[in-house]
Amino acid sequence: MTARPAYRRILLKLSGEALMGQLGFGIDPQVVGFLAREIKAVVDAGVEVALVVGGGNIFRGEGLAKAGIDRVTGDHMGMLATVMNALALQDAMERIGLKVRVQSALRINEVCEDYIRRKAVRHLEKGRVVVFSAGTGNPFFTTDSAAALRAVEIEADLILKATKVDGIYTADPKKHADARRYDQLTYDQALDQRLGVMDQTAMVLCRDHNMRLCVYDMDRPGALQAIVQGDDSIGTRVHV
Ligand code: GTP
Repeated sequence: MTARPAYRRILLKLSGEALMGQLGFGIDPQVVGFLAREIKAVVDAGVEVALVVGGGNIFRGEGLAKAGIDRVTGDHMGMLATVMNALALQDAMERIGLKVRVQSALRINEVCEDYIRRKAVRHLEKGRVVVFSAGTGNPFFTTDSAAALRAVEIEADLILKATKVDGIYTADPKKHADARRYDQLTYDQALDQRLGVMDQTAMVLCRDHNMRLCVYDMDRPGALQAIVQGDDSIGTRVHV
């Protein structure tokens, strides 16, 4: 028999880039399928799962602005990109039997539900995965900030930030062979040292609302499940 999960409700933050795998653009069905199975294992263990997904595999407002597109317009394009990713995740998760609801911070009712906090919480209580899309619905805010905001709103016990590395390092491990992984950190340390965990807005929100964060390697099969079962040796924990 598996042990009781250590967390009742989690918010998993997936970057848009995470979905493109080796493709360089767009959505890799293999990757989305893998993520769906990882999430299912956690839902089957009795954990309530909310997702926030980025859009950088399709459009990123900041990048578009550099190419000359008005920043607010670019951010709107980026927000709509997150909706596409949310729909792809919904499809992959439903195909393996999960119940999923997509909510959007921008009103596009024909496509998905509006973001309504109380409804999202009800879905989670019923064992449905809720995918929060369109960021915070505002330009100039990242999807990391959306993850922090939604996690606080739904009273998640933990944010899991899925990345390509297995935690937060003293320096970029790809460039510095002597870089060391932190097991844990405080938000103030991460903010002071400007460690590229999340943007500062997101980290301040987490800190001020005592939200715990775990940064882990999304490519490692079983990592998500091990973390929710209480394995503290995986990834880096950030706390107040
Ligand atoms: P319960 O009321 O708890 O049973 O939740 P439910 O989501 O199953 O019921 P509801 O009647 O709200 O939704 C039925 C289906 O319609 C679900 O697949 C929802 O995701 C979808 N749905 C609900 N509201 C909207 C909306 O505003 N836009 C779109 N596109 N779909 C919606």
